[in-house]
Amino acid sequence: EKAKMIVDKDFTIGEIDERLYGSFIEHLGRAVYGGIYEPGHSDADENGFRRDVIELVNELQVPIVRYPGGNFVSGYNWEDSVGPKEERKRRLELAWRTIETNEFGFNEFVDWAKKANTEVMMAVNLGTRGIDAARNLVEYSNHASGTYWSDLRRKHGYEQPHNIKTWCLGNEMDGPWQIGHKNAVEYGRTALEAAKVMKWVDPSIELVACGSSSRQMATFPDWEATVLDHTYEHVEYLSMHQYYGNADDDTPTFLARSLEMDDFIRTLIATCDYMKAKKRSKKKLSLSFDEWNVWYHSHAADRKMEPWQIAPPQLEDIYNHEDALLVGCMLISLLKHADRVKMACLAQLVNVIAPIMTSNGGGSWRQTIFYPFMHASVYGRGKSLVPLIQSPKYDTKQITDVPYLEAIAIHNEEQDEVTVFAVNRHLDSSLPLEVDLRSFGACSLIEHIVLEHDDLKAVNTEQQPDNVKPHPNGNAQVDGFKVQASLVKASWNVIRLK
Ligand code: AHR
Repeated sequence: EKAKMIVDKDFTIGEIDERLYGSFIEHLGRAVYGGIYEPGHSDADENGFRRDVIELVNELQVPIVRYPGGNFVSGYNWEDSVGPKEERKRRLELAWRTIETNEFGFNEFVDWAKKANTEVMMAVNLGTRGIDAARNLVEYSNHASGTYWSDLRRKHGYEQPHNIKTWCLGNEMDGPWQIGHKNAVEYGRTALEAAKVMKWVDPSIELVACGSSSRQMATFPDWEATVLDHTYEHVEYLSMHQYYGNADDDTPTFLARSLEMDDFIRTLIATCDYMKAKKRSKKKLSLSFDEWNVWYHSHAADRKMEPWQIAPPQLEDIYNHEDALLVGCMLISLLKHADRVKMACLAQLVNVIAPIMTSNGGGSWRQTIFYPFMHASVYGRGKSLVPLIQSPKYDTKQITDVPYLEAIAIHNEEQDEVTVFAVNRHLDSSLPLEVDLRSFGACSLIEHIVLEHDDLKAVNTEQQPDNVKPHPNGNAQVDGFKVQASLVKASWNVIRLK
């Protein structure tokens, strides 16, 4: 049975905010130490930043990176991480049970972000700390001069303010594992008061309030409703986090998880709009899906980790081909909601549940999930178009009516290009696809990129970095405004048209 897709340039979902292709660096495992920062490495620059890693980050064209956590931020004393390195305090890091040396801190991250050609999304600690530390950090970062904190930044060698625009009000404050976990009222009140003083310091900043840590949380979605009841007029975004795994080795269900992601997004759009009505507000809130990925391969190893090491390997998921397919489906889910999801962060960027891996003192390589993320980031700019799809479907024990075809089309008016991203979820057979581009007139094919592999569990390693890698030899053919392709079983496809 054939799948059909109709796209029309006038039926737009919305303008894609480039920050949809954001990522995340947490002080966790080898993300910072041995990841983006490794002084002494043969490829390190004068700051100790690994050039090979920056090159791979540039390939991904990541416009914004969240920092410094994650769970880490809820115990973070930002003051420990600035000033002369020899005076910085070593701390027990309670979220991940390691030692944080603070050798790499806030200003180093701002420097790294400039080199990596990306913006900083900074999170404040609303776990062990509160509104005072938050407003001081904004003053240190963004105020020009003439006050204690801004002059301290200048003394630390940063004459110009960092002007960080986007700030997260804590991290996963609904989770009992969080340092300084709060109930929704406690968090809503704290976030509101932090938002007020942070914006009084710098009215140009934008703020993200914490939504639930996942759709599975018992307090979802009451958490969001209560938090927004307190903060609605004071924040611009509500955060979303979600990870999926395939611990039961049930790949048909695993690949269908992005339908749950769609549902999660739809529910939170409704929650935001309910609150808009309740507040009689003119403001429309956006969503920041600032943690998303596959995460489960490393759970067993992490449970065995010896505590209180410096930058041990943690959360080092080695991603396989089927993970790349789900990441592709999750990207399509984000693009299907580009009108309301304005920021998103693939969690994370280097070594920790990441598309980029390194070995200490050694090389760096691309994991399987690198590719769909790179394709979406590079070719998924412009407007996303409503995908009218007819597809054969399948049922699993947990999820029914799963279309074999997951797809979206993007119109890049500037480049005069249309790109179709498509996943064939069928594990055993190819899927004939017809795309009808009626309003675009006659098109021609630029290329049809395919990520495929016979083994769903195939991975890339330092020794075999190109085991799972896309090729440009897809079989799409264009006749006028119709595209015909046969999507290989279990494949990610990028069909680029002009
Ligand atoms: O990204 C890894 C962890 O996942 C983050 O620290 C936390 O926010 C989430 O639970």
